[in-house]
Amino acid sequence: MCGIVGYVGRDNAKDIIIEGLKKLEYRGYDSAGVAIVEKGGILVRKKEGKIANLEEFIKNEKITGTIGIGHTRWATHGAPSDLNAHPHMSNSGNIAVVHNGIVENYVELKEWLAKDYGVQFHTETDTEVIAQLIGVLYKGDLEAAVYEAVEKMKGAYAIGVVAEDQPDKLVAFRKDAPLIAGLGNSGNFIASDIPALLKYLDKIYLIENGEMVVCTADRIQIFDENKNPVDRDLLHVTWSLEDAEKDGFDHFMLKEIYEQPRAINETLMRRIGDDGKIKLDGISLTLEDLENINKIYIVACGTAYHAGLVGKYAIEKMAKIPVEIDVASEFRYRDPYIDDKTLFIAISQSGETLDTLAALREAKRKGARILSVVNVVGSSVVRESDDVFYTWAGPEIAVASTKAYTTQLICMYLLALYMGELRGVITKEYYNQILDELKAIPGKIEKILEKSKDVEKLAKTLYNRTQVFFIGRGMDAAVAYEGSLKLKEISYINSFAIAAGELKHGTIALMEPETIVIALATQDFLFEKMFSNIVEVKARMAHVVSVAKEGNTTIERESNEVIYIPQCADEVSPLLTAIPLQLFAYYVAREKGENIDKPRNLAKSVTVE
Ligand code: AGP
Repeated sequence: MCGIVGYVGRDNAKDIIIEGLKKLEYRGYDSAGVAIVEKGGILVRKKEGKIANLEEFIKNEKITGTIGIGHTRWATHGAPSDLNAHPHMSNSGNIAVVHNGIVENYVELKEWLAKDYGVQFHTETDTEVIAQLIGVLYKGDLEAAVYEAVEKMKGAYAIGVVAEDQPDKLVAFRKDAPLIAGLGNSGNFIASDIPALLKYLDKIYLIENGEMVVCTADRIQIFDENKNPVDRDLLHVTWSLEDAEKDGFDHFMLKEIYEQPRAINETLMRRIGDDGKIKLDGISLTLEDLENINKIYIVACGTAYHAGLVGKYAIEKMAKIPVEIDVASEFRYRDPYIDDKTLFIAISQSGETLDTLAALREAKRKGARILSVVNVVGSSVVRESDDVFYTWAGPEIAVASTKAYTTQLICMYLLALYMGELRGVITKEYYNQILDELKAIPGKIEKILEKSKDVEKLAKTLYNRTQVFFIGRGMDAAVAYEGSLKLKEISYINSFAIAAGELKHGTIALMEPETIVIALATQDFLFEKMFSNIVEVKARMAHVVSVAKEGNTTIERESNEVIYIPQCADEVSPLLTAIPLQLFAYYVAREKGENIDKPRNLAKSVTVE
C-alpha cells in the first residue's frame, strides 16, 4: 500500500512530511515524493527508490513552504520510476495530488478527459487521472472540485490535494482506504496511518468512508458525502510506533491475515468489467494464443507453489488444458520438455526468488511463453515475463505468506475461468457461478475471522504437540500442504501434509495415540472417501481436528474438534480453508512464544540457491 502525509502549519512542510514518510517505510514502497506550495507555485520533487534518494535529490534546494503533501508509492499501475512516483500534477500546474488505493475506472476517465478536455497524460498511473480530473473541475473552490471528482471515481482510494492559489488549505478524501487527520501544535496533518504522525502529535481524527477533510494551520473540518459538517471525537493515541505499524495487531502476520478480505477484493474486483466479464489487465492471451498452447507449467517455491497446486486443479477443471506443476528448484535442473507451445506460469510474491527466476529463464530459453503472478511491481520476475498478472495484496511484511497466497489463488481462478470461457469449454452459467462464488469470498473470510477466538482456544490446547499431520483430498490436499508449511515455519513443530488416500501406503504406520491430524474435508464429492480416512486415523487413536463446510454434522462423529467454513462451491473452498489454518499456525506459534514475523533460518525472499 502507498503512504500519504500532508501538513499545513507554521513549520517547514518539506522536513515534516519527509520525516512522516520515513515512518511509513515499513509498509514497503518503490519511490517517494513531495509537493510543497511555494510562493512561486507548487514545487514537486520525486524520486524512484528509497526516501534517501529523494533527500539527496533536494538537499541543496531552498524549500520553505509551510503546506504540502508527500507520498511513498507501492506501484500498482506503471512500474516504479521518477515519472510514475507521486505527487502528480494537473497540466494547469495548480493542483497536486497524492493517492493511496486504486481507481478502478481510470481508463474510462482518462479517455473522457482526453476526448472532452484535450488532456494530455504523461504517466501510466491511475493517480495522474485524479490530478487531471480535479484540474479540469477546479474553478477556485477546491472542496467542490474534489467532491465532483470523487463522484466520478470508482475504486478504493484516499487522496490528499493542494492548490497553488489556496496556500492555506489541504483537502483530503477517503473511500475504502485508510485516512486519518492529526491535530498538531504547529499545524495540522493528514496521513495514511498513525506511525507517520506519532512524532508530532497524539490526537487524531479517524476519517470514515465518503468523508472529506479540510485542514488549515489552525483547524480541521470533516464533511460527509452530502457536504454536511461532521462532529467527530478526537482519538487520543497511546500506541508505540511499533504498535502503530502493526495497526494495533500483535504481529504483521496477524495483520496480514486480517487484510485478506480487502486484498482479495482489490485483486478480484478490478478485473471484472462493467459487463461482468473478466478483463485480464497486463495479459494479452487471445484464443489464437491458447489454441497454440498444449501444456501449461506452473513453477514456484513454498507457498507460491502451493497456490500453484490449487491453480493446477482450477485450470484443468475450468480451462481443460493439461497442467504440470513443479517446484522451481527441481524444474530448473531436470531438463524439462518445453517448446513454443508451452505456457510457463511463474508464481512469486517477491518476484525475486532465485530458483523461480532461474526456472523462468530456463523455460524462456526453450521457447515458452512466460506469464507471471507477482505481488511486487517491477521485480525481477516481472521484468523477465511476457505477461504479468499482479496480486494486489499490498506489501507482505511477515515472512510467513498469507494474503499473497490467497490473492495468488484469486489470480489462478481468474486465469482458469478466462481461458475456459475463451476456449468455450465451460458454460456461461458455470463461469458466472464461479465468479459469484469468488465475489462472495471476502465476506465469508470476514465471517471466519469473526470466530478466530475458537481457533485460538484450540491452539492453546494443542501447541505443545510434536507431530502434526495435515490430510486432504483433491483441492483440500493442495491446501493441506500450505497449512503444514504455515505451522512448521513459524512454530517449528514437525508437521507434514499428505494426500489422505496415500496414508494407507505407509504413512499411517506413524499414527500413534494423540497424534494430531488436521483433516480437510470440504470437497463434497470426495467427502465419503475423506470420512473413511478420518475413521481410519481415529481408529488409531489420533486426535482429529477437521475442517468442514457449515452444516456437515456427520464429521463431528469422528472428530475431536471441527472448524467450520461457510458454505461454498468445492472449487473455491481453498480460499476459505486456508484462513483457519493460517490462524491455527499463528496462535500455536504465539503460545510457544516464537518470533512469528521473523522465524529462525528464514528470509522473506530467498534470493540465493
Ligand atoms: C511462505 O510462507 C514462505 N515465506 C516461503 O515458502 C515463500 O512462499 C517462498 O520462499 C516463495 O517466495 P516468493 O513467493 O516470494 O517467490
